[in-house]
Amino acid sequence: MLTAKSLFQEIIDDDDAFRLFCSIAASGESQGGWENARIAALVAPGMRELAPKITRHGADEDKHGRIFHALLRKRGLEPVPVPPETDYTMLLERRGIGLAHEKLRGDEPLTEHDVIVYLAHSRVTEQRAADQMDMLVTYFGDHPELGKAIHMIDDDEANHLAYCHEELLRLAREGHGRLIQTTLRESALAEIRVYRDVSLAVMGHMGRILKWPRAKGAALAAGIHGVHAYERLAGWHRMISLRTPERRNALGGPVTPAPAF
Ligand SMILES: [Fe+2]
Ligand SMILES: [Fe+2]
Repeated sequence: MLTAKSLFQEIIDDDDAFRLFCSIAASGESQGGWENARIAALVAPGMRELAPKITRHGADEDKHGRIFHALLRKRGLEPVPVPPETDYTMLLERRGIGLAHEKLRGDEPLTEHDVIVYLAHSRVTEQRAADQMDMLVTYFGDHPELGKAIHMIDDDEANHLAYCHEELLRLAREGHGRLIQTTLRESALAEIRVYRDVSLAVMGHMGRILKWPRAKGAALAAGIHGVHAYERLAGWHRMISLRTPERRNALGGPVTPAPAF
């Protein structure tokens, strides 16, 4: 039977598929690292107290990028270029979600509005990251090659999500509730489309690499469209709620080192 677990197992077992998977993951993580580092550097003058947490967030994402590269190296594989249609971060940016890279490459300080938009966008994308890592932990948490890496990234993504909830709730209490709600809505609706498109593109590439029969590709595409239909109808609400997290001040300390990677 076709399950998420059997699908990932096939990807992990094949060097070319694994190489593409890790390359895409590493590139997304490194882009996240760069964005957070730039946002920390340009953070609105009135919000300087957030800078260390944004820096830590970026350092975590950079670390995740290095972990995926280390997984490749351990198998003697080199990363491959990321096909543009699988580039989640770039596609989100193109839809105007998050902060434009143009702005982040400049040296104008960000406004409070920008920083709130960044946090709301992160609340949505970190939910996706946390959910995906939870799924990987469930199926491959004990995997001898990947288990440790997956657990470490999963724990960090849970921290990122907790941090977004906590900071957005604080900003909502300070009177930014309307901007936060609007941005969360827009980001979530755009994200679920981009996620669908990227999933279809990634599975298209995997299908070619793993020589899947047409029927299997079609079944997978139908599954991805099904997930999107559910998210469009109801699932997206999960991405925009705000709750006081169990983990407080989750990004208050230094980065957890990853000496094994
Ligand atoms: Fe990450
Ligand atoms: Fe993250």
